[in-house]
Amino acid sequence: LSEENQNIISAYEWLTKLYHHLLRYTKDGKDGYRYFKERGITDETIDEFQLGFAPNIKDFTATFLEKKGFHKQLLVKVGILTLQNDDTVTDRFRGRVIYPIRNHLGKTVAFGGRTITDQGPKYLNSSESDLFHKGKILFNFDLAKKHIRKKNEVILFEGQMDVISAYQADIKNVVATMGTALTEMQAKLLRRYVDKVIICYDADYAGIEATYKAAILLQSVGCQVKVARMKDGMDPDNFIQSSGADAFRTEVVEASDTFMSFYMNYLKKDYNLSLEGDRIQYIEIVLKELAKIESPIEREHYVKELSNEYDLMMDTLIDQIQTHRQKSSPPKDKREKDRYTNNGPKQYQ
Ligand code: CTP
Ligand code: MN
Ligand code: MN
Ligand code: MN
Ligand code: MN
Repeated sequence: LSEENQNIISAYEWLTKLYHHLLRYTKDGKDGYRYFKERGITDETIDEFQLGFAPNIKDFTATFLEKKGFHKQLLVKVGILTLQNDDTVTDRFRGRVIYPIRNHLGKTVAFGGRTITDQGPKYLNSSESDLFHKGKILFNFDLAKKHIRKKNEVILFEGQMDVISAYQADIKNVVATMGTALTEMQAKLLRRYVDKVIICYDADYAGIEATYKAAILLQSVGCQVKVARMKDGMDPDNFIQSSGADAFRTEVVEASDTFMSFYMNYLKKDYNLSLEGDRIQYIEIVLKELAKIESPIEREHYVKELSNEYDLMMDTLIDQIQTHRQKSSPPKDKREKDRYTNNGPKQYQ
C-alpha cells in the first residue's frame, strides 16, 4: 500500500469512528440517530455497520482531520472535503447520515452519505480513487462472504438500506451494487463464491431494466440466476420493514422466479397484449427464446405456461420451437453477451 493510500484509509478510520460516536452518543448526531430509528434500525445494527452522522457544521471535519495531520489536498481528492471557489474547504457530507463502504478486507475506503432532509441528491459518495471503484466493490461483501459461501447463494440488492435491513433480519448473504449497473468484475467476483444469485432489485422501471442486464451478465459468467419480485414500487428494505423478515424469506426470496419466467414477463413491455397482432408477435418472440433452452423438460414447463395463458395448443407451440431449433444459431453465451453490451450501463452521478 502506498503512503497516500495508507493515509486515506487512516482518514476514513478516524472519520468512521468519529461520525459513529457522534451519532450514537452526542447531541451533534441526534438527528442522524433519530433518522435510523425512524427507519427501524437497531443500535446493534448501527454499531455493526458503524453508521454515523456528519454534523451540519461547515468545517467540522476539516478541522478535525487537519488537527490529526492530514493534508487538505488529499481530503479534497478523495471527496471528504469540497473545495470552494474562494479556495476554502467545506465538509462534503455535512448534515448527512454516513454509510461506511468497506472493501473486501473490511477496510473503509469510501462513504455513502444520505440526506435526512430531502435536500440535494439523495446519496452522495466519495470520489473514485485507487482504493475505491464503485464498479469493483459490492457493499457488505466482507461481512457477507462467509454466509454466501456457506449457502452457495447470494442475494443482490440495489442499496445500502436493503442490505442493512436484511442483515438485521438475519438474512446475511446479502450485498448491494449501490445503484450502478452490475459490472463484469462484480459478476466474476460473485461467481468465485457462488453458483446461485438471487437478484432482488427495486420493483420499479429502473430496477427491472437493471435486473435484466445483471441477469444476462451473471449468466454469462456461469451463475444460476433467480429473480425476486415484489409489488410495484416496493424495495427490499420497504418490504422487510413493513411485512417482516419471514414474509420476505417466503414470499420474495423463496418465491423468486427463474430467469426465463422473469424474461417472459419482461418481454411484454414492448407489446400491447390486448391487441391480437401484438399478442401473436409476443408469443413468437417468446418461442424463439424458449428454443434456446437445452433441457426439453424445462422447455415443456414454459410451453405449458404459455399454452395456458394464451389458450394455444401445446403441439403448435412445440412445432414452432422445433423450427427455431433447426435453424443454426451462434452459441448461447456469445449471443447473450452481445445483447448485454449493446445497452450501456446506467450510472449515477
Ligand atoms: N444511489 C446513489 N445516488 C443517488 C441515488 C441512489 O448513489 N442519487 C445509490 C445508493 O447506493 C442507493 C442505490 O443507488 O442505495 C439505490 O437507489 P434507490 O433505490 O433510489 O435508493 P434506496 O437504496 O432505496 O435508498 P433509501 O431507502 O435510503 O431511499
Ligand atoms: Mn484507479
Ligand atoms: Mn431504486
Ligand atoms: Mn430502493
Ligand atoms: Mn429504499
